[in-house]
Amino acid sequence: MPVLEGKELRIVGFLCNWCSYGGADTAGVARAGQPTDLRVIRVPCTGRVDPLFIVKALLEGADGVLVSGCHPRDCHYAVGNFYARRRLEVVREFLPVLGIDQRRFAYTWVSASEGQRWQEVVQKFTAEIHALGPAPRLEDAKPLLRLADMALSSLHPLGTGQKAPLDELKAAIRAKLPELECVIGWQQGYDAAHVVPLFMKTPEDVDKLVWGPFNVNNPAVYLPQFKGKKVGVVVKGCDSRSIAELLQEQLISREDVTIFSIPCEGVLDMARVNTELGRYTKIDGVSMDEAGVTITADGREHRFCMTECAQGKCYGCTTPGAVIADQRFGAPVEVTPGAHTPPELAMLDAMSLEERMGFWKAQMERCLRCYACRNACPMCVCRDHCISDSREPHWMSQADSARDKLFFQAIHALHLAGRCTGCGECQRACPVGIPILALRQQIARAVGNLFDGYKAGIDPAAVPPLLTYAVDETHIHEREWK
Ligand code: FES
Repeated sequence: MPVLEGKELRIVGFLCNWCSYGGADTAGVARAGQPTDLRVIRVPCTGRVDPLFIVKALLEGADGVLVSGCHPRDCHYAVGNFYARRRLEVVREFLPVLGIDQRRFAYTWVSASEGQRWQEVVQKFTAEIHALGPAPRLEDAKPLLRLADMALSSLHPLGTGQKAPLDELKAAIRAKLPELECVIGWQQGYDAAHVVPLFMKTPEDVDKLVWGPFNVNNPAVYLPQFKGKKVGVVVKGCDSRSIAELLQEQLISREDVTIFSIPCEGVLDMARVNTELGRYTKIDGVSMDEAGVTITADGREHRFCMTECAQGKCYGCTTPGAVIADQRFGAPVEVTPGAHTPPELAMLDAMSLEERMGFWKAQMERCLRCYACRNACPMCVCRDHCISDSREPHWMSQADSARDKLFFQAIHALHLAGRCTGCGECQRACPVGIPILALRQQIARAVGNLFDGYKAGIDPAAVPPLLTYAVDETHIHEREWK
């Protein structure tokens, strides 16, 4: 069997049992010569190919991954390859943000009778992988720590919500409280510079409700726990998108949830606030004006302007007002139309693939593997059966390696494909401040580009794009080897 010159590389092939595996067999029977780099894994259908197979293979040392199945309209299960096509396109767009060259992954269609075509596909793909050379390993990457440039313009005015009608909101909650199990909002935490969730059950609890740039938590994360009970929730715009997504996935019922909303003017990036405050014994006071917050700790003043210290997600926010609400308070915040790349994602966009791999290596070496990112995510709904904890199937080891930790982030990000509302809770909850939201933002961008600008959590009645398919896709064009 002829092999391409030089060292044999490791290429993993996921072949559908009914067509491409048969095609490979036909090529073999016809003694059609093929490079020997490809290791074939037979799957029942391309619809069985989890995008994680591809990421795992590439992170674990494969130099290339090829997926091949029945031609569109020929799938043994009718539509398995239509669903697969959408997922495979998303994962293809996801690989570069991890620092993996997307040319190392390809998918195609080969029928059982197309032995000659199979030979051409394998030869062409193997030649492409040989041209790229052995894949860079995360273990060998040079660690790179870099901070995003937050001096970006915002799509809407950022502020501290000084004019928010908090008394009006409190009165409405008190009036509604007798019908509800509780209303979820925010209260001051262990000091005036930190806010924690509040579960209001009595009118006295309502007095504790606060509104402002410290309201970073997403209260929607608690709603599935109250399924079947009447509950109220106070939301910012991004929180309301999580509610829309929870409704879309039928994890909560609309009639059970009463939504109170005030337009949001942005929330602080507490990782940066805490870094700037450093070690302190006591917060002496917090004062706010429209432009920002002044925190006095141990007699020293620290100033945080909203235009410089808001969370990255706030700069490109297009939904400062709730997308869904029962009672709205305050004047709407105007949004300038336009595209906006979140700062952390813009930083990654500006890096080379090698730098991105080094960046994630450096970040994952800091990861404590505490799973706070998963636990804070309102859309991470299978955390009791999370595959990162599972031994059957055994997706991940418990090794404290950057590779395993990055793979966990890939799992989380891919499980949120078409579902992540960009609330940033994963990143906010990270105790070491790893900018993991960028991975979800890259997938959200890919989903938007592939599926007519789809955004998760806008329309509770919409069908998520990865849960459906189109026979003729508008933005997916088959890549053929001729
Ligand atoms: Fe071959 Fe579905 S059975 S792709």
